[in-house]
Amino acid sequence: MPDPAKQPDLPETPDAKKLFIKTYGCQMNVYDSERMAETLGAQGYVATDTAEDADMVLINTCHIREKASEKLFSDLGRLRPLKLAKPGMKIGVAGCVAQAEGAEILRRAPQVDLVVGPQSYHRLPQMIRAEGQVIDTDFPLEDKFDHLPERKATRGPSAFLTVQEGCDKFCAFCVVPYTRGGEVSRPATRLLAEARALVEKGVRDITLLGQNVNAYHGAGEGGDWGLARLVRALARIDGLQRIRYMTSHPNDMGDDLIAAHGDEPKLMPYLHLPVQSGSDRILKAMNRKHTAAQYLALIERFRAARPDILLTSDFIVGFPGETDADFEDTLALVRAVNYGMAYSFKYSARPGTPAAEKPGVDSAVADERLQRLQTLLTEQQQAAQQAMVGREVGVLYDKPGRMPGQMVGKSDHLHAVHVADAAGQVGELVRVRVTAASTNSLAAVRL
Ligand code: 5AD
Ligand code: SF4
Repeated sequence: MPDPAKQPDLPETPDAKKLFIKTYGCQMNVYDSERMAETLGAQGYVATDTAEDADMVLINTCHIREKASEKLFSDLGRLRPLKLAKPGMKIGVAGCVAQAEGAEILRRAPQVDLVVGPQSYHRLPQMIRAEGQVIDTDFPLEDKFDHLPERKATRGPSAFLTVQEGCDKFCAFCVVPYTRGGEVSRPATRLLAEARALVEKGVRDITLLGQNVNAYHGAGEGGDWGLARLVRALARIDGLQRIRYMTSHPNDMGDDLIAAHGDEPKLMPYLHLPVQSGSDRILKAMNRKHTAAQYLALIERFRAARPDILLTSDFIVGFPGETDADFEDTLALVRAVNYGMAYSFKYSARPGTPAAEKPGVDSAVADERLQRLQTLLTEQQQAAQQAMVGREVGVLYDKPGRMPGQMVGKSDHLHAVHVADAAGQVGELVRVRVTAASTNSLAAVRL
């Protein structure tokens, strides 16, 4: 999960206006925050680490589970005295709560100057110049990516690259098709250019982002490209060393992408493939349009192509109508797959989604199921980390470690690794042998 405290990079100039962005939610929000920072950077804003110090505060929100808007209004409440003390200060609300609640935010929080949806943030330069409260939550016909400034240097050697947005799947619990709109892919030619620009600025590792990333079908040379073709073209960029993609849907998985995991060395042995439930009855009620057996068969194909692939997933417990037997099916699926890591959530009814109409599972029962699922997933995660001990893997250094002579980076499987390496450089990709595993990280020696 992204670190909300992490600030996108901006140039540092002493007299410039200062921008603080707080990011909630998924990796796409992290990417959007970076692009908003670049857009406002072109208007003279530089990053600051605290709201107190800022001339402009942007809250990039997530709407996927409830409490999002309560969180937003409590953040806004805390900002109010700051703004009263500094009348020129601007407060903006971006992201999926902005999209979903729009004018309601301006009504409830008069201290807010602007509300901008995830498809409109290229218009921030006009919005910050406007008088009074402004709102832009259109799904504009023009592509925001055409209007954003060029990519700036990123903090470390890893970057996100949004290749597709939106979703046409309409899972019964999910707000994404309403807040992010229908599925739209960016042209492959543009993505290759953006990736090259990132690599020129020192990026070595790119994660392709999309709500349904494997549904990607962007215009490329000779026609529409799928994700596998895009991955293979990206892999030919000199200097780019690692590629990942997320989040995939089981129903959009093509043979060519599975094959790429077997023969494209830059494609990392890592796959986030949410299943949500192991019960066919619940999968049907969720409108997932696949069964547990189909999901397991897909996993087998990935493992055949790349035996050491690390699998991660998302689960929802307590979906309306979920019985003890349904939940046992979920535990059985988890045991059958053996995940390297997974996120699990208690079902949260989202107004406007079909599932919100149905009576929910008793909250205490759902809590207990979540606890049991998380215990099993944690056991699997620890076992997967333990199984790395003694193995040789690649590590890309992100930053120096806390101990002298130590570097910290990500393994091929996205494990955090501490390496004793006094000569290590940020951005270097090295081979290491894993010597120990703790709950959240691995220790290793450089080979
Ligand atoms: N309640 C709980 N979890 C949800 N997710 C999406 N919508 C809901 C909801 N209404 C979870 C799914 C999805 C992840 C990003 O968030 O597991 O894969
Ligand atoms: Fe939401 Fe389902 Fe689309 Fe994922 S696939 S974004 S869970 S509707």
